[in-house]
Amino acid sequence: MGKMKRYCYGFCLLISIAINILLSINLYVGENNQQTTHRSLLTWSEKAAAEAEEVAAISCSGHGRAYVDGLVFDGQPVCECYDCYGGRDCSELSPGCAADAESGDPVFLEPFWMQHAADSAVVISGWHRMSYRYPDYTTMSEELENYIRKLHSLVGNAITEGRYLVFGIGSSQLLNAAVYALSSENSSSPSNVLASIPFYPMYKEQTMFFNSESFQFEGDTNSWQSNNWTNNMDVIEFVTSPNNPDGELKKSVLGGKTIYDHAYFWPHFTPITGPSDHDLMIFTLSKLTGHAGTRFGWAIIKDKDVYEKVANYISVADLGISKDTQLRVLKLLKVSVEGDGKPLFEFSYNKMRDRWDRLTAVFSKSTRFSIQQRHPLHCNFFNETRLPSPAYAWVKCEREEEDDCGAVLEAGKIIGRSGSIFSAKDRYTRLSLIKSQDDFELLLQRLTELVALENGSIETM
Ligand SMILES: Cc1ncc(COP(=O)(O)O)c(C=O)c1O
Repeated sequence: MGKMKRYCYGFCLLISIAINILLSINLYVGENNQQTTHRSLLTWSEKAAAEAEEVAAISCSGHGRAYVDGLVFDGQPVCECYDCYGGRDCSELSPGCAADAESGDPVFLEPFWMQHAADSAVVISGWHRMSYRYPDYTTMSEELENYIRKLHSLVGNAITEGRYLVFGIGSSQLLNAAVYALSSENSSSPSNVLASIPFYPMYKEQTMFFNSESFQFEGDTNSWQSNNWTNNMDVIEFVTSPNNPDGELKKSVLGGKTIYDHAYFWPHFTPITGPSDHDLMIFTLSKLTGHAGTRFGWAIIKDKDVYEKVANYISVADLGISKDTQLRVLKLLKVSVEGDGKPLFEFSYNKMRDRWDRLTAVFSKSTRFSIQQRHPLHCNFFNETRLPSPAYAWVKCEREEEDDCGAVLEAGKIIGRSGSIFSAKDRYTRLSLIKSQDDFELLLQRLTELVALENGSIETM
């Protein structure tokens, strides 16, 4: 009986070893087979993917980037260094370099896209959409349109149901397309284009540059209102909300035809108090995902006639927007709507809030300089009350004699954009808070030094 039992144990042990060996072989071979099948699916994209990853892996000391389409030196892609950094690998910081806070380049979101490298990369075949048109004979991607509508409904910042969409080369192109579409054709006198000081200078620049018989730039809404000049006049008003440069949520002053420029109406910059429901609203990818270089914007339009005119403007100017651009935007928006938009907007809001916290701490020690007041509002997207965190600080020089604030800051090695560029007084200067982390750190250092001077001590960070 004992012998029988021992045989039985031995047999069971042998079977168990055999099964384990078989399972291990299957696991190893199966995995390898899967990898081979997966790899063998990639034929023409492998080389391009390898090139993209190779260039992206060049660190440039963390103070620059190398790009596939950048210059090549000695067969190697050249590092494009951030401001104040130089050398082949961008490791050399030039001492005493001025902090450049002039432009609204939204590079602050670059780390988010690096964290989402796999999801946001795009592969474009050599034969991708060579035609002028999509199969439905339009020049706009229907799928991209669906994602834009989905994003607005997730964020709750604009009504898109029953509205028309038109894509443009950045929102810049749509600003003038909108002026053209709203200007009255029959009027013997041109439509009057206005905005509220301080305003984004492009409205004036474009309206004057295109020099049309149908519209002319007339300046500030408030002086028109106080002089009662709007009676029987054809008026087109730009309403920038939140405003560039001061971040204020604006409403129409004159109450006539309006173009709502919502470039900054995203949770990074402002609490979302409710969906915008205006006749003509313009948004841009530049300040949403940070891809200003992609040049993509969209208009949301209520009225069919206005929509047709805007669409016709884009068609006559460009025969539509690049299909490569639309593909890239689609990919970026797919990532943007992931997790109901929380990963993107939490990243962007936290980054902006952190910058504002540090900035206000510096300005709180100053009586020479002040920045705009911010007031808390309920944000429907985050479902809590928060302070706005605008893209720009609107700095005022408080000393009577310092009426050229740009020059005062420049003496302190800070480059901003002077108030007069926004048709305001030069006592104000705009400082950009949406550039790279390096740029922001240097800006904060220079501001700290300037404020410390005022308090009689030199403080460095
Ligand atoms: C208020 C406002 N509107 C429109 C634009 C233009 O954006 P883009 O042409 O990059 O879409 C900008 C850019 O800074 C802006 O600040």
